Amino acid sequence: MNNLKFPVEVSNLTKVYKTRGGGVNAVCDISLGVNGGEFLTVMGTSGSGKSTLLHLIAGLASPTVGSVKINDSEIFNLSDAARTRFRCRNIGVIFQSFNLIPTLTASENMLLPSLIDGNKKIPREKLDELLRVLEIYDRRHHRPDSLSGGEQQRVAIGRALLIEPAIILADEPTGNLDSVNSNNICKLLRELCDKEQRTIVLVTHEKSVADWGDRCITLKDGRIADEKIINSTRKEVSA
Ligand SMILES: Nc1ncnc2c1ncn2[C@@H]1O[C@H](COP(=O)(O)OP(=O)(O)OP(=O)(O)O)[C@@H](O)[C@H]1O
Ligand SMILES: [Mg+2]
Repeated sequence: MNNLKFPVEVSNLTKVYKTRGGGVNAVCDISLGVNGGEFLTVMGTSGSGKSTLLHLIAGLASPTVGSVKINDSEIFNLSDAARTRFRCRNIGVIFQSFNLIPTLTASENMLLPSLIDGNKKIPREKLDELLRVLEIYDRRHHRPDSLSGGEQQRVAIGRALLIEPAIILADEPTGNLDSVNSNNICKLLRELCDKEQRTIVLVTHEKSVADWGDRCITLKDGRIADEKIINSTRKEVSA
């Protein structure tokens, strides 16, 4: 099990999307440190740049300006292939729109990052255990189009967690879940942080979900508009 604490250091990060009508400043000059083993939550209105920031930290989009260092290594100095390998080994990404492969079953989708990283073989028992924790074991042979939105979301969570990544980047991971499932996922992430020192960055629209973190930043127009430490006892997501 990978128990290394991976810090994230974002410096002067800017992302301008080029469009026909000009540029969209999705992320503007964000500098942000996330300690190894810290649980950071990110809030902000729709279009404030949350997903873009997460994709930049994951190395899935390249910045217009700025840098992202993970464990002191600049990820944009890596070749595309090396960055992909690094991500598959160390970063679990939960996408807002799931990004499941439609032709693969739930189990196969969850195993995909470990297949891309040819070095990592996942024992069958580990896959089954996570399927059970996420309460999708009896759906493991289903393809995404025969799963509910909440089940698809839990497959996407399982895919990110199965490799036991040092860093978890979660984009609205509870957006399609009822309050019980949402609470279970928040608890699971909190435990991964507390017991295994995973570094977590979680985007959410719900304050009750954001309150599971150690610190919350709010984005506005691509910039950090607010930052606060959360020291409340963990709250259950209200029904
Ligand atoms: N590929 C793209 N091309 C052009 N503009 C984009 C692209 N992706 C995002 N944007 C724009 O960048 C801004 C930030 O988008 P982003 O998806 O990061 O917001 P968000 O905070 O995640 O929103 P939501 O809460 O709706 O998921 C928005 O104005 C969006 O329209
Ligand atoms: Mg988004």
